Amino acid sequence: MKACRREQTAFTPVWLMRQAGRYMKEYRDIRAKVSFLDLCKDPELCAEVAVTAQQRIGADAAILFSDLLLILEPLGFKLEYTEHKGPVINGRVASGDDVVRLPEVDPNESLSFVFEAVQKTRKALRPGMPLIGFSGAPFTLAAYVLEGGSSRVFDKTKKFMREEPLAWHALLDKIGRAVIPYLNGQIRAGADVVQLFDSWVGCLSGEEYREYVLPHTRKVIEGIRKGVPVIHFGTGTGPFLKEFSEAGGDVCGVDHRWPLDQAWRVIGHDRAVQGNLDPEILLGPVPQMREQVKKLLDLAARRPGHIFNLGHGVLPSTPVDNVIALIDLVHEMSASRQSL
Ligand code: CP3
Repeated sequence: MKACRREQTAFTPVWLMRQAGRYMKEYRDIRAKVSFLDLCKDPELCAEVAVTAQQRIGADAAILFSDLLLILEPLGFKLEYTEHKGPVINGRVASGDDVVRLPEVDPNESLSFVFEAVQKTRKALRPGMPLIGFSGAPFTLAAYVLEGGSSRVFDKTKKFMREEPLAWHALLDKIGRAVIPYLNGQIRAGADVVQLFDSWVGCLSGEEYREYVLPHTRKVIEGIRKGVPVIHFGTGTGPFLKEFSEAGGDVCGVDHRWPLDQAWRVIGHDRAVQGNLDPEILLGPVPQMREQVKKLLDLAARRPGHIFNLGHGVLPSTPVDNVIALIDLVHEMSASRQSL
């Protein structure tokens, strides 16, 4: 929490995106008994998964266990998580009329199980351990409904954006109007910080980002309850970090494709940053990890307001012992620097 506010800390705090996931045996054991979607809708199990992950690896925050795409169900889409293709969204948006037909979402009604998961997670964490709530950002959620699932090229998304600009803005506006009460509901339920994931926004240029995305993300961030830090994360944003950071957020997430010192200069030292170790480094060996942690801490230069994280999520093939070793390394190496 101090790092979000750019206050001095005794060591650099660290948590990892996807810290609760398939790389961890405890998670796989639960998933052997319940489907991913059923797990996301069981607040008790969500709390267990989130808290177990935080405690097992010794992270300095827990993240709500849920999924980015759940908010699409009350918007009228049917979700399926398949073993090989990843998520599939049935009921694609292909025209302006489709956008008009999307219902207004009241998360208090349709996503109350998420708020319950936040409450239960909060209760099960030790007092003072920050809990991060999250949502997809308007662009990434729109990309999912336009593509019908994950994509490599986002051709349908970009085509819709360019050919139907009015419908595009109406779609992002509608999603944004659902995301604001969704995040504020998580805060009311006990989230201390919220992270907006704009995971696929790196397929755009800075110019496109400014015109088609920035106003919508800014509106969401401005709608979040004052005093609660917002982490604004995207991948592939290196070439347009200036525009990306202008959308707001107390903390700007940076992926591993851009050097942290350069990124921080562009974002501005009056903002906190989160990142940005390459998730692949976690596959080992540990001496190399130590080198990379040192490099990253050097780039952060003991400036207050650095939250250590990966540039993207933990890979499923990551050995859990390496994750534990990483967290220990960050704590040890940053603490010794603070006392220099
Ligand atoms: O530990 C955490 O970070 C909290 C939990 C979390 C999950 N998804 C669990 C999950 C969070 C924060 C997310 C966000 C999410 N979901 C994002 C944004 C983060 C990012 O990676 O950029 C995205 C794009 C999604 C959509 C999504 N969910 C995809 C593309 C997939 C399939 C890919 C995969 O890794 O299987 C999911 C499934 C998913 N979400 C899993 C988990 C643990 C794996 C499901 C399983 O158990 O099989």
